[in-house]
Amino acid sequence: MPKLLFVAAEPKPERWTDAIRQACPEVEVIVWKDDGQVHDADYAIVWRPPPALFAREHKLKALFNLGAGVDGLLGLDKLPAELPIIRLEDAGMSVQMAEFVIHQVVEQTRDMAVYRAQQRQGLWRIQRPITRTEWPIGVLGMGRIGARVANALAALDYAVSAWVRTPRPGNPLPVFVGKAGLRDMLARTRIVVNTLPLTDETRDIMDYDFFSALLPGAIVINVGRGEHLVDDDLLRAIAEGKVHSATLDVFREEPLPPQHPFWQSPNITITPHVSARTLREETIAQIVTKMRALEAGEPVTGLVNPSRGY
Ligand code: GLV
Repeated sequence: MPKLLFVAAEPKPERWTDAIRQACPEVEVIVWKDDGQVHDADYAIVWRPPPALFAREHKLKALFNLGAGVDGLLGLDKLPAELPIIRLEDAGMSVQMAEFVIHQVVEQTRDMAVYRAQQRQGLWRIQRPITRTEWPIGVLGMGRIGARVANALAALDYAVSAWVRTPRPGNPLPVFVGKAGLRDMLARTRIVVNTLPLTDETRDIMDYDFFSALLPGAIVINVGRGEHLVDDDLLRAIAEGKVHSATLDVFREEPLPPQHPFWQSPNITITPHVSARTLREETIAQIVTKMRALEAGEPVTGLVNPSRGY
């Protein structure tokens, strides 16, 4: 019977482990404890695990990451270089992300804040109708999540372009590639949406130069990682009017510290890393299917390339 270790700081890990046992009765499921015990587990389901995991467990055949982003895992001390890491592929996240981003976009393009303010004054006043050409959107990253976001916006007839590291055939949207391509895309973008994975190449990508390259009065939506964004540069770009407003779902430090200036900025909307939740049922079904495939010696998708960083 393969042994599966559950290593995530969940307040009620039994919600996960009970469901895993039900979906996969042939595995022994063990919750990781900081008690020094060695289990010789075959697999581990992890979210930002402690490095002690790798000091103790030497029989691991694969890790399943409890999220799409593996940045909390790849930098870990003692992570064996050859240990296969499998990340979540969509698992119900891309639809949530598309919905979240569309909500934020429509807030701006349909003047929702203006109408709320008018309502408080009892004012019936019609704003200018939406002109889609005034709201070109640039999506950074075209993985499962970025592609769903970009396609959902394009389906609403927004002019969407995408920025990627390497071009993929078959995408109907205008695609910009690499460092030079980024400048070109930003120069025609008013709403920028970040869905990138965090890697050494993408860290701090949203800095003052980035904001200055956007069309004036830009909107920034960050659903990637806090480390993509240089916080002070965003505040400066807002103060100078280069950026009109931002919606931030992810932060360098989470929870966002109470004294952080983002809290007090009227031009920043903060959500607590909820743009796409990890859904238990979908996630477990995906992991169990892949674990069974690995046990049967079959290939699986979603394998992380550590040198690429995602
Ligand atoms: C969440 O942030 C994820 O990486 O899935």
